Amino acid sequence: MFVKEIRLRNFRNYEKAELCFKPGVSLVKGANGQGKSNLLEAIYCLCFAGSFRPARDEDMVYWNKPFYFLQGTVYSNNCYYRLEIGYALAQKRKVVKINGTVEKKGRFGHAFPVVFFVPEDLEIVRRGPEERRRFLDRELCQLSPVYAADLSAYRRALMQKNRLLKEKKNATGIKELLEPWNRQLIQYGSRIISRRSDMIRIWNNKAAKNYSVLFHCGQNLQLDYMSSTVDGEFPSDLEYIAENMSREIKMREEEERVRGYALVGPHKDDLLFLLDKREARKFASHGQQRSAVIALKAAQVQYYREMAEKPLFMIDDIFSELDELRRRQCLLLFSDAAQVFMTVTGERNYLENYPKGQEIVSFFCVQEGKIREVGHGDQSGLAH
Ligand SMILES: Nc1ncnc2c1ncn2[C@@H]1O[C@H](COP(=O)(O)OP(=O)(O)OP(=O)(O)O)[C@@H](O)[C@H]1O
Ligand SMILES: [Mg+2]
Repeated sequence: MFVKEIRLRNFRNYEKAELCFKPGVSLVKGANGQGKSNLLEAIYCLCFAGSFRPARDEDMVYWNKPFYFLQGTVYSNNCYYRLEIGYALAQKRKVVKINGTVEKKGRFGHAFPVVFFVPEDLEIVRRGPEERRRFLDRELCQLSPVYAADLSAYRRALMQKNRLLKEKKNATGIKELLEPWNRQLIQYGSRIISRRSDMIRIWNNKAAKNYSVLFHCGQNLQLDYMSSTVDGEFPSDLEYIAENMSREIKMREEEERVRGYALVGPHKDDLLFLLDKREARKFASHGQQRSAVIALKAAQVQYYREMAEKPLFMIDDIFSELDELRRRQCLLLFSDAAQVFMTVTGERNYLENYPKGQEIVSFFCVQEGKIREVGHGDQSGLAH
């Protein structure tokens, strides 16, 4: 897929901008704080009617303006889609349209294949399990509306169970009260575990290859799903998972009552990054952690290419953190994406050493929320 054009009105620090894009690599250059990440956020928001940052709609409205509006055309699976997202601050109202028709729930029912890589993604390896579950859930919701529905049903049941455990833990008949919620947790939870574990198995095969091919370092990367409930490598059989969950819930019934919250289920699981069988979070260097995330992002791009179509790939400011080898290897991955947006702060000449076929097709310069295309191959425009 690729984005053909986008119009921004009062979005972050862009009062007004209109841009046309082509498939291939677009480079966005600008000093710190000029609007590079904001542009990527706008493109992401156009595709998903929401941000990749933990931002609310009101945060994305240009300060002191009454609304933001994004409009654009996206090409995916041989079709053009006209997308519009508007948010009015006073009414707190968001309207999302696809080909002129209002989408219910304020988001697209359709998800476009987009992979992005922002500096915050390094936290996936470095931080705790919650960060990794959020990443997993976000990616899986993007891939499957069924997963998104299961996840929201699971969260609802979990909230109800936790409320009972907190408020009525000593009430008589608490067991019976918990029963329907446990049943739901098992039903939706087993589907969530199965889908997560399938996905990680697929990413693992690709990411392991990527890591060794890209970085020639003789180390092995392995991704694993660590379930608090279910034994075995990459469990995916629904009945097996449901049985395990049910048994575990019974076993830890008393402990759950004492602690006052649910201890069993996918909300306790983790995605493990192992380098030579050691947890990357604890033992890997920053460079190795970064490489592991690149290998995973590349796996996501490859998965989309194989399963659906070549995706859109956004890389925000990541090059400044990479050494020469990693930067070059990263560029190789671009060929698996239909369109790439890449931001740089400047100083260095990033235009050398591009592998053949991955040359930049468009250059953009951003300054204080004003963006302009500086011409094909017009490197002089980028030098200053
Ligand atoms: N709602 C908003 N309205 C107006 N300006 C905003 C809004 N939200 C953020 N900004 C400003 O937009 C500017 C550009 O932010 P952005 O994150 O795009 O910078 P950047 O070019 O990616 O910089 P860096 O290289 O440091 O990552 C910042 O100065 C920020 O304060
Ligand atoms: Mg930025």
